[in-house]
Amino acid sequence: MEKYRICGGRPLVGAVDISGAKNAVLPILAAVVLTEEVCCIENIPNIADVSTSLEILTALGATVRRLDAHTIEIDPGHLLTHVVPHDLSCHMRASYYFLGSLLGRFGVARTSMPGGCNFGVRPIDLHLKGFRALGAEVPGQLDNGMIEVKAESLVGNAVYLDQVSVGATVNIMLAAVRARGLTVIENAAKEPHIVDLANFLNSMGADVRGAGTDVIKIRGVEYLRGANYSIIPDQIEAGTYMAAAVATGGNVLVRGVIPKHLESITAKLEEMGAVIEELEDEDAVRVSCNKPLRHCTVKTMPHPGFPTDMQPQIAVLLSIAEGTSFLTENIWDNRFKYISELRRMGADVQVNGNTAVFQGVPRLSGAPVKADDLRAGAAMIIAALCASGVSTIDNICYIERGYEEIVEKLQALGADIERIYVPSSTSQAM
Ligand code: EPZ
Repeated sequence: MEKYRICGGRPLVGAVDISGAKNAVLPILAAVVLTEEVCCIENIPNIADVSTSLEILTALGATVRRLDAHTIEIDPGHLLTHVVPHDLSCHMRASYYFLGSLLGRFGVARTSMPGGCNFGVRPIDLHLKGFRALGAEVPGQLDNGMIEVKAESLVGNAVYLDQVSVGATVNIMLAAVRARGLTVIENAAKEPHIVDLANFLNSMGADVRGAGTDVIKIRGVEYLRGANYSIIPDQIEAGTYMAAAVATGGNVLVRGVIPKHLESITAKLEEMGAVIEELEDEDAVRVSCNKPLRHCTVKTMPHPGFPTDMQPQIAVLLSIAEGTSFLTENIWDNRFKYISELRRMGADVQVNGNTAVFQGVPRLSGAPVKADDLRAGAAMIIAALCASGVSTIDNICYIERGYEEIVEKLQALGADIERIYVPSSTSQAM
């Protein structure tokens, strides 16, 4: 049983290099099966979800070759099946992106019904609505926990997304690039990773226009060629380190970022009293904070609003900000499970429906806590870094799904953090 052990109270100081974006690389790796030619993807983060995606590609029959620590060459020319193995797809929700890309490649795709998550039900009705609109047959119910979509031929169509959905936008794009004619996705997600996927598809010879706006137009093409592509930096990883720098009263240069992708995060941290300098020519931001944080109100919204994937992280800052702060979660119906862990560290917070109300406390105190999911786990790390005393964090596998070398990166910033091994018999006792 591995845990993180953190001794808090030390300001983070130094520089951190941001890795490629998890939520961009996962759809792009799924998109590779749309061509029969070799693709070379650079700036790939070494995280568990990428490993799972590469295992899925291999299981489908692709040849996967690592060229260096962050560059992978994939040859999808000899795929053997349209079925994503259950034992892989049940581990990672984003495996459902292979539904769209295998449907686009073969006219049929089969994968596990994605599991729920620790922050509520995660339906895929909008994905299936999009596939049906393109002419695919979608089953009314699952067979043996698997979902299969198939189409004699995919024909472009208009799809209105009742709710802004990153996953549905991605999946419809992946199927539509090989559909005959024009597909128009209305009320599309506008996240940077949607734009990154569109740019990758267009580098393969697709015709995708309007990504980053709420109307995306895709004119299907007969053939997609292989491409070389570099993944954008991870806005959420960058935001996480920015929040950690602010929480610990430190001074951190966050390098290898696109400052524009961070605007909503930067604005909120500055509102709380942080000083953030955008170094455009260096693709970096410098984040510092040397005074008590001011209370504020945060509401998560689809991009370009404040990202839901930064919600737990900013909650730590609100718990130590002077006065009363309000945090409203507008994307997920149950993304406050981690609050109970934050209370164990001394936070004074009440959750009323989709809003958490914080009464700031001077300082959190170290405690044994656990990661409920990826971003909640990152929040526990930030809380432990700014708390007095020692904390241990359990369920670190969630964290390592989405943060490359987080222990090493934090140690380089002066954090007292280490990965410890706790024999399972004692871990229950702690
Ligand atoms: C993506 O999840 C991200 N995951 C999530 O990040 C992120 O929280 C989310 O987008 C919102 O930005 C990846 O990109 C791999 P949605 P996704 O479809 O696509 C509802 C992380 O920490 N909805 O945009 O699953 C849904 O219930 C992860 O990196 C439907 O109702 O999210 C939610 O309320 C966590 N029907 C809202 O839409 C559908 O068919 C937004 O979900 C699909 C979604």
